[in-house]
Amino acid sequence: MTPTDALNREHQQYRASADQCVAAAAWLASRDPLRPRYHLTPPAQWMNDPNGPVFFDGEYHLFYQHNPYGSVWGNMSWGHAVSTDLVRWKHLPIALVPNPEGYDRAGVYSGCCVDHEGIPHILYTAVDHQAAQQQTQALAYSHDRLITWTKAPQPVIPNAPDGPVPDFRDPFCWREGDTWNMALCHASTATKSVVRYTSKDLRQWEYRGVIYDQFSNVPECPNLFPLGDKWLLTVSPYGDVIYALGDYRDGQFLPQGPWQALDLGGSAAFYAPNTLFDLSGQKMMWGWVRGGGSPQSPWNGCFSLPRVLDLANDKTLTIHPHAALTSLRGAKREYGNLQLDAGVRVPLPELPGPGTELTGTFKVGEMSRCGLEIAGAGPEGKPLTITYDAAKGRLSCGTAGGTFRLPVGERLELRVFLDRSVLEIYANSRAALTARFHPKNPARPELFAWSDGESLAHLTAWALADI
Ligand code: FRU
Repeated sequence: MTPTDALNREHQQYRASADQCVAAAAWLASRDPLRPRYHLTPPAQWMNDPNGPVFFDGEYHLFYQHNPYGSVWGNMSWGHAVSTDLVRWKHLPIALVPNPEGYDRAGVYSGCCVDHEGIPHILYTAVDHQAAQQQTQALAYSHDRLITWTKAPQPVIPNAPDGPVPDFRDPFCWREGDTWNMALCHASTATKSVVRYTSKDLRQWEYRGVIYDQFSNVPECPNLFPLGDKWLLTVSPYGDVIYALGDYRDGQFLPQGPWQALDLGGSAAFYAPNTLFDLSGQKMMWGWVRGGGSPQSPWNGCFSLPRVLDLANDKTLTIHPHAALTSLRGAKREYGNLQLDAGVRVPLPELPGPGTELTGTFKVGEMSRCGLEIAGAGPEGKPLTITYDAAKGRLSCGTAGGTFRLPVGERLELRVFLDRSVLEIYANSRAALTARFHPKNPARPELFAWSDGESLAHLTAWALADI
């Protein structure tokens, strides 16, 4: 047996025991009333970044950073789920785990999955604390519809370009003609950059220089892609996930506007997103929504709903939930035209649920504020308030929020997804805000509409099916 065969035989054994550990915790995880039901969560245990979204042979595959052995970060592996409609997911066996004696002994970190000559290939960051360059880029491929993965004998990018750096990770690959391009985070105290490599075969990689280097912190999980007639670069520099629209020429990204937050909920709720063009050519994005139920519950983390990114006519970013999500809609309840007067909270009784989508149109005064309130869902059992503040041009949920400004006369169009303890808010297809909340009764949150001026609201709620 060659050393590579031994590595891969061992890998299969470690994978099998990781799966058993997750399966053993799954029943308990499924009992947690705070666990989301239509956001994708692993069967149990910890997850962080979405990894390697790919469409292959009629199915969408999503992988994720996963600790099969606990509900805290550690033992980084790749969990795996598959879907035909982007909404309903089936769990598959864990794809990759570290080999305790191998070049990824300290973790199989984030990366991407691409179809190269009809064969799915994963590029991931292999971590080995015993090596001089601790983070390297590694390759695995599958011949059985992405179920079992064969690791290459050695990392395919074993060294950083100018000597070892602590942060050298999260490959994101795309093809131009017959050439694979890779955007990669490369950071040390001296540099915080996204760099580029190219390859014809995913095995031999050549360093091509810096794509962009004006970051103030480690630009984790870069994604770079065309959107309309522009390019978008997004990174997760420990804080807010940020993006800029611009031009990409001769291997360099040139922003043409400010760096902005992709999600107004902040990195505590939404982080390290990954993207994929769906079958119709729309750019989809999933992010990691942090946090679990109670400290005892054996699950932590879920995916955001799939979001579609596009360019508006004025060349700014649009962002809205993927249309396929409407297939989860069941019972509907209309709350009609509500007159919201200052100081009056209008209850929205008998919300269909337990998973709910609420759509609302608000006619807002130029200087007023309006929104929704969830009883008992804030800290210390206080109400949690979703606010659009027209005077400040701000959308917020509790203490999280950011700039969102409607031109005078445009109505506020909200879509709010309530899923036990996960909340996503989309406003006018231009802003997204993800949050965690802890309702008293997660299956039946109690909602109110409100305004501090005079406002008209039309609200509709749907029960959303479990996935
Ligand atoms: C982002 C991140 C990545 C890394 C992974 C490890 O959340 O830190 O940079 O590859 O998580 O789990």
